[in-house]
Amino acid sequence: MTLLQPALPDLFKSMSDDDVHQLISASRKKLGERCVILGHHYQRDEVIRHADYTGDSLKLARIARDLKETPYIVFCGVHFMAETADILTTGQQQVSLPDLQAGCEMADMAETWDVEASWAEAVAAGAGTIVPVTYINSKASLKAFVGDHGGTICTSGNAREVIDWALARGEHLFFFPDQHLGRNVCKAMGFDTEKDMLLWDPKKPLGGHSPEKIRETRIWLWQGHCPVHALFTLHQIKKLRTEKPGIKIIVHPECAMEVVDASDMSGSTEQIIQAIEASPAGTVWAVGTEKHLVERLATNNPDKEITSLNPYTCLCGTMNRITSRHLAWVLDDLVQGKPLRNPITVDEKTASSSLVALDRMFNLH
Ligand code: 13P
Ligand code: SF4
Repeated sequence: MTLLQPALPDLFKSMSDDDVHQLISASRKKLGERCVILGHHYQRDEVIRHADYTGDSLKLARIARDLKETPYIVFCGVHFMAETADILTTGQQQVSLPDLQAGCEMADMAETWDVEASWAEAVAAGAGTIVPVTYINSKASLKAFVGDHGGTICTSGNAREVIDWALARGEHLFFFPDQHLGRNVCKAMGFDTEKDMLLWDPKKPLGGHSPEKIRETRIWLWQGHCPVHALFTLHQIKKLRTEKPGIKIIVHPECAMEVVDASDMSGSTEQIIQAIEASPAGTVWAVGTEKHLVERLATNNPDKEITSLNPYTCLCGTMNRITSRHLAWVLDDLVQGKPLRNPITVDEKTASSSLVALDRMFNLH
């Protein structure tokens, strides 16, 4: 989802980096408990240093849900995260995304009208009970669809538990939008990638399959992916294992199956941090996830050797859009008594159906 972002005023463009940081700190002091800054692990260091809380999608969603008394939440992450925070907070609270162009390319790969059309085709093909699950990296309208159809949400940190829940409730799991997360988790649960799963291409009738194939296949994976994690390959793993015997490879489950299978571990951004921090000094790691997190891991763990699995490193361009200058602008407006800049608001009907789906997820923990 790309929204129109107003240009940064000259004042914020021309300040020195030090002045920007001082302004943010001074604004935070003035705003006190009225404002909380949330920072996803892929954010730039210049932003993360000002975050009250950092985390993966699941942790930040839980924090937003529990911030009952905070009128302003500034979400330094991407659009679906700010939408989720808006859904989980009360009508008295507001959520801002400091740069409106911070979307998620994967979330944009599952348009809700496409999902609705595919769903209707599957039902017409005579499929049995279908339980929809969407990865949290999706639009609020898709979360609402899932909520209205007896389904739920998962994150990279809880996907196995959620998929287990869904499969116990229906004959088919329809998983959106990340084919890789769905495939990796279902494979780890013992399902066969050929016999039990099919890839649903939304551009083709019935996802590109016959009605019989749809009826007999348990797991349908929407054809979406993360372009950032697509840059990690099996070749890189083989090369590193030859060059550095003993190296440990850890990747995000948005990577392709062959990459996850050849790695030592996979997990959410928070789980990647925990695994590396818990490892003994001297451990050598290659990490298959976004560059800002990998670089921060290397800085924060000087007793270990940590590099990106991809030698050219992989950047999420939309996460990267938010800078300390955007953050300074949002906070300065609040200090001056202006309305919250870049509010992310999900309409009431969508929010209430999405909340049903999110609550089902939270109730599993
Ligand atoms: P996490 O929930 O693991 O932080 O992942 C979010 C994301 O967008 C990964 O690309
Ligand atoms: Fe979306 Fe991929 Fe960026 Fe994560 S890394 S926010 S999935 S585009």
